[in-house]
Amino acid sequence: MRVITVEGGRRLRGELTVQGAKNSVLPILAAAVLSGGVCVIENCPPLEDVEASAAILRHLGCRVSREGETLTVDSSTLSGWEIPDALMRRMRSSVIFLGAILGRCGRAELSYPGGCELGPRPIDIHLAALRALGARIDECGGRLQCQGGLLGTEIVLPLPSVGATENAMLAACGARGVTVISNAAREPEIVDLQGFLRAMGAAVRGAGSATVIVEGGRPLHGCRHRCIGDRIAAATYLSAAAAAGGDVVLRGVDYRHVSTVTTVLRQAGCCVSCDEACIRLQSRGVLRGVSPIRTSPYPGFPTDAQAVVMAALLRSHGTTMFVENMFQSRYRHVGELLRMGADIRSEGRVAVLCGVPRLSGAAVRCTDLRGGAALVVAGLQADGITQVEEIRHIKRGYGDLTGDLARLGAAIQETER
Ligand code: EPU
Repeated sequence: MRVITVEGGRRLRGELTVQGAKNSVLPILAAAVLSGGVCVIENCPPLEDVEASAAILRHLGCRVSREGETLTVDSSTLSGWEIPDALMRRMRSSVIFLGAILGRCGRAELSYPGGCELGPRPIDIHLAALRALGARIDECGGRLQCQGGLLGTEIVLPLPSVGATENAMLAACGARGVTVISNAAREPEIVDLQGFLRAMGAAVRGAGSATVIVEGGRPLHGCRHRCIGDRIAAATYLSAAAAAGGDVVLRGVDYRHVSTVTTVLRQAGCCVSCDEACIRLQSRGVLRGVSPIRTSPYPGFPTDAQAVVMAALLRSHGTTMFVENMFQSRYRHVGELLRMGADIRSEGRVAVLCGVPRLSGAAVRCTDLRGGAALVVAGLQADGITQVEEIRHIKRGYGDLTGDLARLGAAIQETER
């Protein structure tokens, strides 16, 4: 079993280029199905979830190759429209292939996506959006059988779901006529997906606002696209430096995409400066509690940064309240942090953290991707050694968390136990 071992107490210092955004790369890889040509996609980190997407593309008959951080997908050889259960279960965002395959082939068959550690994650909004476009979807024995000559329409999402917005955009590219998606998610990853679709020749506008408009039916072609930097990986490294103390410069990520996180870290006592090229954070490693942190859709505070910021504040002076509004079960890391001496009480959507003077290293277990990263952030500021188990969760979303933190001066390594 592979584990991450961290010895706390080292300050972090130096520069890092942040990886490409997992949550951009995954829908963009699905979107490549629509192209029918060769798409060269840059800034794709080597993650388990990216490999799972590549496996689905290969199963569908696409050619996929990697050179460094660049993936080339040739979907001219696409030969199938169904995804087997074993591939669907590997990750949640496999469901985004539904809109892409339906948009390209007029039919698709797949099963429900992988179960999730964050609580129930239904796909009802995805399915309603595709049905509005004219897809017939039969749910039979856990399989979704979808058919449809899609027609542009007005889709009003009941909540701004990231995945449902992406699925609707992809299917709408293959629909005849104009589709207007209202109450769309406004995440930077939606804007990135729009950029990719436009590079393929699609007529999409409005991403980043609550209304996305797609003029479907355009002939699409291959393209070259560079994915944006990962704002959640950036939030993780900023939280790590805030907690451990030090002086860290991050490149490759748009500072505007992490402004809610940097605002919190400034309030906690860090000095953060940003320009077009980089984000710099300086911390003495002594933080204070902050105003309540409420997660919400972009541009609000990201649910994906809740765990790592909580970990950064474990030794802060004072109290901080967290309200998790996005997922039902996103405090599973709390139980592990308690093993290290943290003082956090959570009930339902709320967690209250009281800073403690010291944390002690312990054997802890990742409960999910971001919760796992939070344990590493906690370990950087704990006395003694923290051993983090079940690190497969971390590998789903971070290309080299251990190596990146080691390059910044942390005493951290990944070993076989
Ligand atoms: N929801 C429904 N029905 C649906 C779709 C969503 O009820 O059909 C609910 C969800 O259960 C959740 C809320 O709506 O309570 C928001 O979910 P959303 O659909 O926006 O999330 P997602 O597309 O499944 C993406 C990210 C997540 C991130 C969320 C929220 C990707 C691949 N995943 O998920 O990232 O937490 O948006 O910002 O883009 C992560 O990277 O660790 C991660 C979990």
